[in-house]
Amino acid sequence: MIKKTWYDWIFPVYFILGDNYLKWRKDTINLINLGPNEVIIDLCSGTGRNVELLSQRIPSSSHIIGVDTSLSMQKFCRKKFRTSQNIHFLKKSANDLSKEDISQLVPIEDIGCVICTLGLSVIPKWREAFFNAFSLLKTGGMFILFDIHSKQSNFACKCIKCFAKADLSRETWIPLQEASTDFHFIKYSTHFFDIVIAHGIKT
Ligand SMILES: C[S@@+](CC[C@H](N)C(=O)[O-])C[C@H]1O[C@@H](n2cnc3c(N)ncnc32)[C@H](O)[C@@H]1O
Repeated sequence: MIKKTWYDWIFPVYFILGDNYLKWRKDTINLINLGPNEVIIDLCSGTGRNVELLSQRIPSSSHIIGVDTSLSMQKFCRKKFRTSQNIHFLKKSANDLSKEDISQLVPIEDIGCVICTLGLSVIPKWREAFFNAFSLLKTGGMFILFDIHSKQSNFACKCIKCFAKADLSRETWIPLQEASTDFHFIKYSTHFFDIVIAHGIKT
């Protein structure tokens, strides 16, 4: 029997709540410039909110691979994008993702971009997951993230921690800053927490 993850249980509510981060998600995706015949990995792809926007932005010869540990999320995405030839999903932990996994899905070697939105605040061993995904990038490839961050644990943060199992105290951009060149960081402050968008290049 397949063990259910927390996101398998909350999937219906997560789906119904909709996307409260669309503006920042779009801002993040607009920073991506993927070349032809490249792969972009959407780490912690969830219900495929990034995938939908990415599919309108990447060259048709490139491929999107959504990686997530939740079977419910994956099943939903596979059905939603079943007619798209260049969109694939893989049920796998970000910590264990390998080049072999990618090469079994697509006949392309170059991973030009990894995007991770609202993921590094959720993955238990998030630093290891980041370094693993970063190592898969081609030289010159981009890692881009957006996440929420708060130094205080106010009511909103407690609710997010409880529902999404997200640790908002994590400074998720720091490993990227240390590992990459041409690092950029943008912070938007809201009443309850900060929204952080960061990206850097693997050299
Ligand atoms: C808050 S959701 C974010 C979903 C999506 N990226 C978005 O922006 O809407 C976090 C996702 O991370 C996934 N996740 C948690 N731990 C993971 C891991 N170790 N590897 C891959 N995915 C993971 C969950 O299943 C869930 O779908």
